[in-house]
Amino acid sequence: MRTEVAIIGAGPAGLLLSHLLARAGIESVVLETRSQEYVASRIRAGILEHSSVELLTEAGLGGRLRAEGHEHRGIYLQWPHERHHLDFVDLTGRSVWVYGQTEVQKDLVAARAAGGQAVLYETSDTRLHDLETDRPYVTYVDAGGVARRLDAAVVAGCDGSFGPSRAAVPPQAHQTFERTYPYSWLGILADVAPSTDELIYAWHPDGFALHSMRSPTVSRLYLQVPNGTDVAGWSDARIWDELAGRLGHGQDGWTLTPGPITDKSVLPMRSLVQSPMRHGRLFLAGDAAHIVPPTGAKGLNLAIADVALLSRALTALLRDGDAGPAERYSDDALRRVWRCTHFSWWMTTMLHASGDPFDAQLQLSQLRWVTTSPAGAAGLAENYAGLPIAG
Ligand code: FAD
Ligand code: DHB
Repeated sequence: MRTEVAIIGAGPAGLLLSHLLARAGIESVVLETRSQEYVASRIRAGILEHSSVELLTEAGLGGRLRAEGHEHRGIYLQWPHERHHLDFVDLTGRSVWVYGQTEVQKDLVAARAAGGQAVLYETSDTRLHDLETDRPYVTYVDAGGVARRLDAAVVAGCDGSFGPSRAAVPPQAHQTFERTYPYSWLGILADVAPSTDELIYAWHPDGFALHSMRSPTVSRLYLQVPNGTDVAGWSDARIWDELAGRLGHGQDGWTLTPGPITDKSVLPMRSLVQSPMRHGRLFLAGDAAHIVPPTGAKGLNLAIADVALLSRALTALLRDGDAGPAERYSDDALRRVWRCTHFSWWMTTMLHASGDPFDAQLQLSQLRWVTTSPAGAAGLAENYAGLPIAG
């Protein structure tokens, strides 16, 4: 089989790239190891920044987002006995939207189906070949067990943190920058109305807690836990008790309403950047190129921003014969990647308990500054609501 762009991975990066390329008249084939149902049901990110909403809307994907998503003006930052609201709209003129990654994925799947674009699920043994030539190809085994070859002008590695694309770049051709953190998040989804109108990021000596949401009837909450935590040790009652303590149940009349937990998982935290994001005719986008810890909600938004740049670069390359934007793709994308890598690291280290009393005092001082200084607040707001997508 031959196509113009072979896309590996049908997560948000891969499907959005396929969609944007199709709108520019460029054909692609998407290969995905998992089933369509599995990819669609993975519970992950929940916050879209301003530029992501603009991009999805311009791409014709804003209908359900604007009808069913919820626009938030800002967030609450708190520590014991104090809760402060940061209003991003007042501070920067930009807002964020609560709209789950599961919903973005559904919209993308529907758009791909409507466009008749090929997405091949349940493929295996994906391998990338001849990336340093202008005739790269990918081999894989299809859902029926038949070995296949996909020839393309370009390969887009959108296969997340464990896919083969990142590893297909030879060691001498890239650098990897990495940081691991000594804590993880225990995340729950619960069938209960959120106890807050906007997200609460809570510093607490027992560990960070976050109250997020998916809809007026579904809440999403997270607790800082030690690495290696087994969810089996966390009963529903223990989770709600710990959330109540860290989020300040009973303080100033605020209460946390518990409800039935429908999903429970532990996610480790990592920062990673592989640079450059291009090798020959292979272009990396999204988690295939970089991972951020979730504090600050940047993972999905970065994947969308990469793909916005990459679709323009590939359109120039394949339609107009202009290789300039493709040559600049990695440098252009990495500027935003490093800004978000810094912001995610900064939010993470400001909000998570390390057990060191000196760290705790620095964190509280930083939180007081961010919530009382207009300059400090604007810096957080600008990064959280997101910078415009350049390029
Ligand atoms: P992915 O969504 O990972 O998609 C990559 C796709 O490639 C997958 O479907 C995978 O099955 C496929 N693939 C892998 N190997 C192959 C192969 N060999 N061949 C073909 N296909 C392959 N971000 C936030 O902002 N907030 C959050 O709360 C949050 N929570 C998260 C929770 C978890 C458990 C994880 C893992 C991530 C979370 N993230 C969160 C990050 C966010 O979900 C990602 O940044 C986002 O999914 C990136 O999209 P992507 O398309 O680049 O990668
Ligand atoms: C969510 C996840 C985040 O990492 C975050 O910073 C905010 C919200 C969420 O899943 O809703």
